[in-house]
Amino acid sequence: MHKILEKRQLSYDRERDQSVFYYKVEAPEIARNRKAGQFIIFQIDEDWGERVPLTIADANAEEGWIAIVFQTVGATTRKLSVKFNVGDSIPVIVGPLGRPTHIEKKDGIVLCVGGGVGIAPLHPIAQAHHKLGNKVVTVIGARTKELLFFEDEMRDASSELIVVTDDGSYGRKALVTEPLKELCDKEKVDEIISIGPPIMMKFCVAAARPFGVPITTSLNTIMIDGTGMCGCCRVKVGGETKFVCVDGPEFNGYEVDFDNMMQRMTAFKDKEREADHKCRIGLDAGKVSA
Ligand code: NAD
Ligand code: FES
Repeated sequence: MHKILEKRQLSYDRERDQSVFYYKVEAPEIARNRKAGQFIIFQIDEDWGERVPLTIADANAEEGWIAIVFQTVGATTRKLSVKFNVGDSIPVIVGPLGRPTHIEKKDGIVLCVGGGVGIAPLHPIAQAHHKLGNKVVTVIGARTKELLFFEDEMRDASSELIVVTDDGSYGRKALVTEPLKELCDKEKVDEIISIGPPIMMKFCVAAARPFGVPITTSLNTIMIDGTGMCGCCRVKVGGETKFVCVDGPEFNGYEVDFDNMMQRMTAFKDKEREADHKCRIGLDAGKVSA
């Protein structure tokens, strides 16, 4: 059981009727053992139900908590956001899972690029590079001002922060790929770490390619077991099949087949929408229990 210590709504997307939530939960062992880049899988029902992977957004080993940030995209995340409040407990959290980020001392800039909800998983990676003394330049982007979060957290974890919005409502009017190209052109960038929607990561890779700067991308496929058994998280990387849960979640961006990944990620979209719709009707009628 993992008690919820803090709950905050970070944004609400009117267009898509989706919210982003921050939960700080008790998880002392995970907080002690996790490293930047690793993730957890949670279940809101102890014995059955969907298993949802989420990269750890923050943690404190001394205080024994981890932070998760999620978007309400389906029935499980919708129920979590409505039915679970401070003082309640999430019954199952498994982790830390996956390979940690490779963090080493660099001469040049470590360029962290986060888009939308992808800003949350980028946070501990920027923190780890910053703590080691690397020069971390971070670019964070959202479609509009209301959807942007973690600005202060990312500023604290970076030597320099650049904020962009697609519509120019806050920061500079640009997609995250624009500052990425400018920095690669003018500065000595040793590595790019890009996390966000797959289409964003695909375009970050395309933007980095002419400069030959190594780029790491973190993939968030559907997962079930998280231990390399079920195969549902498989992706094509460098022409080979890889499992995001055990071989990743981070991969060399130049080798990831993003088109194949995006196509696989749409496989259950209709069912996800239907389950979310039924869940909303149930929640409105007070019929859905956690
Ligand atoms: P979004 O669509 O609002 O995009 C966020 C930002 O990404 C944009 O503001 C823009 O700066 C950039 N971007 C998007 N498309 C781009 C393009 N074609 N070229 C250049 N830049 C582009 O993102 P969102 O709604 O917050 O994200 C939801 C998606 O993120 C879901 O698909 C979810 O699966 C994914 N996600 C990924 C991770 C991960 O670990 N990779 C974590 C959480 C969420
Ligand atoms: Fe089952 Fe990765 S989640 S193999």
